[in-house]
Amino acid sequence: MKILFYMPHADAAAWLHDFARALPEAELREWQTGDTAPADFAVVWRPPREMLAGRDDLRAIFNLGAGVDAILALEHEHPGTLPRNAPLIRLEDTGMAPQMAEYVTHAVLRYLRRFDEYQTLQSERRWQVLEPHPRETFTVGVLGLGVLGAQVAQTVASFGMPVRGYSRSARQIDGITAFAGETQFDAFLDGVKVLVNLLPHTPDTGDVLNKRTFSRLAKGAYLINVARGGHLVEQDLLEALASGQLAAATLDVFREEPLPPDHPFWQEPRITITPHMSALTLREESVAQVARKMAALMRGEGVSGVVDVERGY
Ligand code: NAP
Ligand code: GLV
Repeated sequence: MKILFYMPHADAAAWLHDFARALPEAELREWQTGDTAPADFAVVWRPPREMLAGRDDLRAIFNLGAGVDAILALEHEHPGTLPRNAPLIRLEDTGMAPQMAEYVTHAVLRYLRRFDEYQTLQSERRWQVLEPHPRETFTVGVLGLGVLGAQVAQTVASFGMPVRGYSRSARQIDGITAFAGETQFDAFLDGVKVLVNLLPHTPDTGDVLNKRTFSRLAKGAYLINVARGGHLVEQDLLEALASGQLAAATLDVFREEPLPPDHPFWQEPRITITPHMSALTLREESVAQVARKMAALMRGEGVSGVVDVERGY
């Protein structure tokens, strides 16, 4: 089996070494410009168009992340980039779900216990106890109840706050009040105190974090966006913070990454910024999952995590 690898800024030698250990019979190479030699599988993150276009020999393309918006955008801009008969397969959890649960729980508890405000008080050398937020009404709403959203929702619920979840199709998760489809969107949002976004970025979900969405939340709500920058209408966030409709936001993802130094978000003390690190791709877990799926495909078996290109996730 021949495997092509492409992941900018990664330690390619380490990835190839781990793949060679998992699949000793495989021939592995890092893709270089002009490489059109045969391959069975491509393992990629944000590949250039030339790597995939016209490669009808591929049996599958493995995306080294959960989100496939970048590779689908390439297909959208240059139709035919993705080989017709090769499924696109994304990572499922591979250690990202616990990372995401930690990140979001940390942010929710920080707001619940008002640590953000205590940090400001400390900077002003003020000794003052703030009225705690009542836990029973500190409702957390998780947009997206997939591999990551479901684990985040359950982890947050274990701290005793009411938790709601929103997905496209109906889901049942113990301890979570579930809403599904556009007709239940407003009911999901109404009165939510912390809105967490874990939707994939698709034509249906772009700009979902907007003025209208914010207006349905409880007054002084919090936003945690860990999915994609394209979900957020940035000006609407700044206005919602200025009006007090939102109290604060934690953002891990941005329309432009790295976030440019002159971006207004850097100047807004109520916005907490992290550099797209809420759930990193872990090499060991990812190689193990991808290698297992390659072996299954070679045996003619089906695998999970196949992206529905039309749906966008
Ligand atoms: P997933 O398993 O595919 O789950 C997606 C969830 O969103 C599903 O519950 C799906 O509904 C729901 N959904 C999709 N379109 C919808 C729509 N139009 N309306 C309502 N619900 C919709 O994805 P995942 O593995 O949890 O990952 C989610 C996203 O997290 C990724 O796409 C990626 O953008 C982001 N991410 C970010 C980082 C980071 O470091 N910041 C790391 C990893 C992933 P159904 O259940 O009905 O299908
Ligand atoms: C990271 O953002 C991912 O989609 O895995």
